Amino acid sequence: MNETLKVLETRRSVRKFKSDPIPDDVLDQILTAGTYAPTGMGQQSPVIIVVNDRKTRDAIAAKNAEIGGWDKGFDPFYGAPTILLVAAKKRPTDVYDGSCVICNLMNAAWSLGVGSCWIHRAKEELESDFGKQLLRSLGIEGDYVGVGHVALGYPDGEIPPAKPRKSDWIYRV
Ligand SMILES: Cc1cc2nc3c(=O)[nH]c(=O)nc-3n(C[C@H](O)[C@H](O)[C@H](O)COP(=O)(O)O)c2cc1C
Repeated sequence: MNETLKVLETRRSVRKFKSDPIPDDVLDQILTAGTYAPTGMGQQSPVIIVVNDRKTRDAIAAKNAEIGGWDKGFDPFYGAPTILLVAAKKRPTDVYDGSCVICNLMNAAWSLGVGSCWIHRAKEELESDFGKQLLRSLGIEGDYVGVGHVALGYPDGEIPPAKPRKSDWIYRV
């Protein structure tokens, strides 16, 4: 099996992270891979918001937990030191575009030994005043839909094995 296929098969969602920061050169490679994802009509509708600042990261976590209905203390990003928030400019393929970006980010991360987990509720987050203010503070103007987050960091502990693949994944004609 070649290295690309190995990465695609062995990436798993990581739900316990070390606090060690991701070095800038590693993070940059992951982000660049995200920007090369396919997008509808090549419009590159998504943006990737990189959150390393602890205060902002924790504020996003608190909002996400509130939307999810969890207890105040619960960190929906599982202690990850970095959060990537992917949003996309509203257009017919916005969520598809952003989803391709997130998959590129997660697979690129894993190819570099960095663990990740897709974390939901970005849509509700960016519909809230909190999310709108975050976009405004970054100078992101216009109508954006939240697609998802990537919790990013070095895994703390074993990577769980993948569940067996269901038997009816593939149909051939
Ligand atoms: C659209 C989407 C939303 C997800 N949201 C969450 C989430 O909010 N929290 C979480 O822990 N995992 C989340 N996940 C991760 C899935 O639970 C995970 O991918 C799935 O269980 C398969 O495990 P694997 O990634 O290790 O193959 C999400 C995945 C996707 C694709």
